[in-house]
Amino acid sequence: KQSVGLVGWRGMVGSVLMQRMRDEGDFDLIDPVFFSTSNAGGRAPEWAGSTALHSAFDIDALKKLPIILTAQGGDYTTEVYAKLRAAGWTGVWIDAASTLRMKDDAIIVLDPVNRNVIDAAIKKGVKDFIGGNCTVSCMLMGLAGLFKHDLIEWMTSMTYQAASGGGAQHMRELLVQFGLLNQSVKSLLDDPASAILEIDRGVLAKQQSADLPQEHFGIPLAGNLIPWIDKDLGNGMSREEWKAEAETNKILGRGPGFGNTATPIDGLCVRVGAMRCHSQALTIKLKKDVPMDEIGDILAQGTAWAKVVDNTKEATLAALSPVSVTGTLDIPVGRLRKMSMGSEFLSAFTIGDQLLWGAAEPLRRMLRISLG
Ligand code: HSE
Repeated sequence: KQSVGLVGWRGMVGSVLMQRMRDEGDFDLIDPVFFSTSNAGGRAPEWAGSTALHSAFDIDALKKLPIILTAQGGDYTTEVYAKLRAAGWTGVWIDAASTLRMKDDAIIVLDPVNRNVIDAAIKKGVKDFIGGNCTVSCMLMGLAGLFKHDLIEWMTSMTYQAASGGGAQHMRELLVQFGLLNQSVKSLLDDPASAILEIDRGVLAKQQSADLPQEHFGIPLAGNLIPWIDKDLGNGMSREEWKAEAETNKILGRGPGFGNTATPIDGLCVRVGAMRCHSQALTIKLKKDVPMDEIGDILAQGTAWAKVVDNTKEATLAALSPVSVTGTLDIPVGRLRKMSMGSEFLSAFTIGDQLLWGAAEPLRRMLRISLG
């Protein structure tokens, strides 16, 4: 059994990752060594044998491991990764954070979609394997078939991203906001004869009041939305929007660096009051007119997790919402139809749990690949 260093296993992504690894029996295949940034000397979780926690900043301890898997976050990667490599460490680094993603010699891992890229990289001696942006990974898990058949000329994605993308504190803040908004009009709501516009005024007053907690999102998200995610790149684009084209093409091995042309992907990323599923509405310009039944087959065969949802109201409400997808590995793709612009224009809507395919799952699968 190979020793695997685990860092950041207690946070939100880390906890989902640990649960998935336990569910899939990954711990039967490795000797886990648990690290902590804050509790060195404490105990690893009971289910993992309660061994002592090592300091996640102890380069000598980290250096001994052939594989390190981290969900600790970008600041940790920035602080430790370069020191570890400088100390001569040649092990495999598997990371959820975006810090190293676009580095030339790092691979963004999503093996159901880019196993060929991963295998070629391993052969070349690549050692850095980074999980992709959640929105990108979930989109690709749904649309892989269209990319595999090279049917996409360009695409726009309009996203509806959940609070969890910001972090655990953001989810809590959203729920506190919902609760306070409800409380502020509770007596009016309980009275069936009260006027809806009075309720609406009460909610708005609460949303605009300084005592509604909003330190994480900056403005209220409950009963609201935020059409900007991540940094302002200064060119009219948010960093989240930039990632769609940059990461998708890197994952697929497309673009001038790979000796071919990149697929243009652009859109607008919006935070909404969902909990942990990212949704996106896609407009896809196909390279040719493909009949709808063929498109359904191509999508369904793209990955084992892509699930085509009939484009009816009933099927959509049953299977195409964050609530129906949360906690599952399914990536439903629905609202499929040709648009009025022409038969090469395809409309689609897809959803994924951003903590599963968007974060934990590609990492644990990469760990399995690294174990050989
Ligand atoms: N940037 C994503 C979001 C998080 O804010 O929703 C996961 O990559």
